Amino acid sequence: MEYYLAPSILSADFKHLGDDILAVKECGAKILHFDVMDGWFVPSISFGMPVLASIRPLTDMFYDAHLMVQDPGRYIDDFAKAGADGITVHAEACGHLDRVLDQIHDKGLKTGVALNPATPLSVLDYVYDKADMILLMTVNPGFGGQKLIPATLDKIRQLRLRLDERGLSTWIEVDGGIHDETIDLVLDAGANVIVAGSAVFGADIRGNYRKLTAHFTNSKGEER
Ligand code: DX5
Ligand code: ZN
Repeated sequence: MEYYLAPSILSADFKHLGDDILAVKECGAKILHFDVMDGWFVPSISFGMPVLASIRPLTDMFYDAHLMVQDPGRYIDDFAKAGADGITVHAEACGHLDRVLDQIHDKGLKTGVALNPATPLSVLDYVYDKADMILLMTVNPGFGGQKLIPATLDKIRQLRLRLDERGLSTWIEVDGGIHDETIDLVLDAGANVIVAGSAVFGADIRGNYRKLTAHFTNSKGEER
């Protein structure tokens, strides 16, 4: 299995956002997680297309736009134009999830389906073939720096079983409350794309990045 740490720039220092992004790129990050909040689907408001467009030329990392936005189908064209490589939408926010996933694929981008902690896995039953990645929220979305909700660990295990049963290699991304003490829990449960905001951005970005990715290998340096 391939493991990725996807730094969430929600916790970056926006005074020098470009430098923070280049720091994680230098560390080897392949995926940058871009948290969009609309003040409606989630209580808070973050940033949107103009910010994505301005950081697009900085790196060739995979820009993963996590839309915590009601009716995200309205914005697929805009985020594609701004330079997203993948767009993750919440099942709870879509009246027509299947159609929105088609919209994303029609733009040539990767799709992600996100589920809040209390949303059952069964909403995925008829879209497995259209989801390139499934994002299981490990906190209720809306803010960085929250505590991981333990019940979500079993949900990760259940999703891994369902994917295995179907012979699918769909990525499982997890998001919220992941740091040095909780990362093994989500990795052991079967996640392979690990979003981390507050545990990466801070005084020592490079040190934080190294510390977290060290969990991807065992003491002999072999991948788990
Ligand atoms: C939560 C966002 C997360 C968040 C993660 O609403 O989707 O990506 O920034 O932050 P930490 O890692 O600080 O929990
Ligand atoms: Zn996110």
